Amino acid sequence: MTRFRAALLLLPSGLIALLAVPSASRAADAANGGVLAKRWCAGCHVVSADQNSGNTQVAPFSAIAKKPGFDAAQLALFLLTPHPKMPDMGLSRSEAADLAAYIAAQK
Ligand code: HEC
Repeated sequence: MTRFRAALLLLPSGLIALLAVPSASRAADAANGGVLAKRWCAGCHVVSADQNSGNTQVAPFSAIAKKPGFDAAQLALFLLTPHPKMPDMGLSRSEAADLAAYIAAQK
């Protein structure tokens, strides 16, 4: 019974992941960026207003979006290059663009 419940709980996020499979060329998708952020970035960054724990040393996404000179295209490029302190997540171009769009939406 417990197992069955866990499977039910997993179902919605699995569905979202299926629906969000990136295609080769398309506009940046902030909703997909949100899914990626919760999966890959939320361990360190506060990625959304409803997240109440994160690493206090790391800028929340809302603060990154509000930085002067913030630019989603530059951010997408930044995410594609390996940088110290952050693991190389091997993001695809469209994933980086989606994440940048998601962060930009928090301005
Ligand atoms: C293991 C922890 C960790 C993970 C996971 C992580 N980050 Fe970071 N991130 C950091 C740290 C630490 C910094 C600050 C780097 C510095 O100050 O040099 C940072 C900095 C950044 C910055 C630059 C912030 C600024 O002030 O300009 C961006 C943008 C960013 N992260 C986005 C992301 C995204 C998007 C993801 C998920 C795909 C992610 N991070 C996952 C730890 C992490």
